[in-house]
Amino acid sequence: MSTLADTPLATDFPCLQREGIVYLDSAATSQTPQPVIDAMDDYYEAHRGTVHRSVYALAAEATELFEGARDRIAAFVNWPANCTIFTKNATEALNLVAYSWGRANVGPGDTVLTTQLEHHSNFVPWYMLCKETGANFEMLEVDDDSILQLDELDALLAKGNVKLVAVGHVSNAAGTINPVAEIIEKAHAAGAVVVVDGSQAIPQIPVDLGALGADFYAWTGHKLYGPTGVGVLHGRKELLEEMPPFLGGGHMIASVSVDEIRWGQIPAKFEAGTSNISEAIGLGAAVDFVSGIGIEAIRAHERDLCSYTLDRLAELPDITVMGPLDAERRGALAAFTMETAHPHDVAEILGSRGVCIRAGHHCAQPLMQRFGVAATSRASFAVHNTRADVDAFVDALNDVRKIFG
Ligand SMILES: Cc1ncc(COP(=O)(O)O)c(C=O)c1O
Repeated sequence: MSTLADTPLATDFPCLQREGIVYLDSAATSQTPQPVIDAMDDYYEAHRGTVHRSVYALAAEATELFEGARDRIAAFVNWPANCTIFTKNATEALNLVAYSWGRANVGPGDTVLTTQLEHHSNFVPWYMLCKETGANFEMLEVDDDSILQLDELDALLAKGNVKLVAVGHVSNAAGTINPVAEIIEKAHAAGAVVVVDGSQAIPQIPVDLGALGADFYAWTGHKLYGPTGVGVLHGRKELLEEMPPFLGGGHMIASVSVDEIRWGQIPAKFEAGTSNISEAIGLGAAVDFVSGIGIEAIRAHERDLCSYTLDRLAELPDITVMGPLDAERRGALAAFTMETAHPHDVAEILGSRGVCIRAGHHCAQPLMQRFGVAATSRASFAVHNTRADVDAFVDALNDVRKIFG
């Protein structure tokens, strides 16, 4: 039974107080709990100033709130705060690595290896890097259960020229939890740097970056109950210190003259311009919100909801669920196709009943191509969901079946 089942967590989320909403799209963007909204309001109402630049009280308080958020976010994943960089989102974090580390370290004859499960934000930047530098672009494939083929990884690494492996921790389109620790170990043994896209992992499974050993780990704030406009890149100190800046401008320099520019220390070197101050503060509050519940309890709750959903979907004859059917191996989502109805029709009919799910290619077209579909429908879960939400979802799917026969 779910450990959070009796906790009325939905009341923490103002938007969920709207009548008749069953929100099952947290993998796209999570709802925002009141403490996160309060933290951002507090910054604007009581401590509004810029960070790192001025000495008056408001600015000093803003800097303290901003850097305090960085400290708590870094501690949440067991990584040093000065190696934790604020970006706009996960996409920008991954592009930062591709432009800064990639352009300095990847060249003709090298291979960049990504996977068939990736969100486009962990696929397109590497494709662009390879096109620009003349490196080879390779993709590790999945089996029929959307599980990566690690013997294929061994074979690709054995070729000896893999410079970088880019892999998602949890797939947003199939739900697969990838064995990233094993992948990192194999890649490191072959001399490759590893970039992990943790956007879907951070909100739902415990992540200890100190133990994991990834070289770069990127994620996005708005899926962890935080605001939009803030993402995070954790990087290994030696790599971050060697890398050239990504964007140039204010704050990222130590000194500027017409003859010479010296870069600032990390993380400032990668945070050009005025920071996303309230968003970072909001993300700090989101980490506090999650830590207050406990990420293990969240995982247990969502795993229960996911396996309940898989059981309920198995009652419907014309539904095919993507990804591993074992809830242990998947994140809290169920992406599926329905023989009788197009994914967009499914989402539209469910939406008209207040059941919010996503339909489309989920920015994972290589995976859609693997399974010969243009799109799927996807329900995804968060701390506030209950089995009653799953029942409402399945009832609405039954209505779709009645409409489409
Ligand atoms: C696995 C994964 N990676 C990356 C992203 C990109 O996140 P953002 O658009 O916030 O950069 C998403 C968003 O859907 C995602 O699910």
